[in-house]
Amino acid sequence: MSTVLQDISKEALEIRDNRLRALRDGLVADTTAPLYEYRKANGFHPVIGEGSHKTKIMFVGEAPGENEAKQGRPFCGAAGKFLDVLLEHIGLARTDVYITNLVKDRPPENRDPVPAEIEYYAKLLDKQVEILRPSCLVTLGRYSMGYLLPKLGLEAELKSISQIHGKVFEGAYNGEKISIVTLYHPAVALYNGSMRGTLLKDAEVLKEFFQ
Ligand code: URA
Repeated sequence: MSTVLQDISKEALEIRDNRLRALRDGLVADTTAPLYEYRKANGFHPVIGEGSHKTKIMFVGEAPGENEAKQGRPFCGAAGKFLDVLLEHIGLARTDVYITNLVKDRPPENRDPVPAEIEYYAKLLDKQVEILRPSCLVTLGRYSMGYLLPKLGLEAELKSISQIHGKVFEGAYNGEKISIVTLYHPAVALYNGSMRGTLLKDAEVLKEFFQ
């Protein structure tokens, strides 16, 4: 029977839990993080990620919004509600997958992340991929797509999201095979209701990784 979970031992899972906790603690304490001052001034939390630590599928959004930074949880606002709908559409729950962002702190006024922020926070994403070893990375929107496709040796495939949404690519991460699926950001369905169907249809390609 196929499943969305990796077959790993209890000990291996504990190592992952501990490494992810250390990653979070490191970010909380790192006063050099580009958005540290803004986080502190607003009483925000960094958003490392949540979900299964033995899943085959890792979702990567852009950066936390205000709700997320207040709660320290990814996708817990309006876009997150639609992400839940996407998951349910393909028969998954949040607890079956791991959900994180490229940038782990909220940028001021929801502005786009700047290159220095991406450079700093993407190193944490790299570590998360190394720790959790998913077989499939799902990018949500152009920022995580723009970072991860080249990272996986797929720079030549990088096009606008309207050209490559819903596609599956085969890349490599630290010499190991890994798939990447490029989806629109779920917030797109909030600005443009007619995109809901496209997002739902695109998400169906993920079934091949657990059915
Ligand atoms: N948008 C994102 O990209 N990430 C979140 O966690 C919430 C909204």
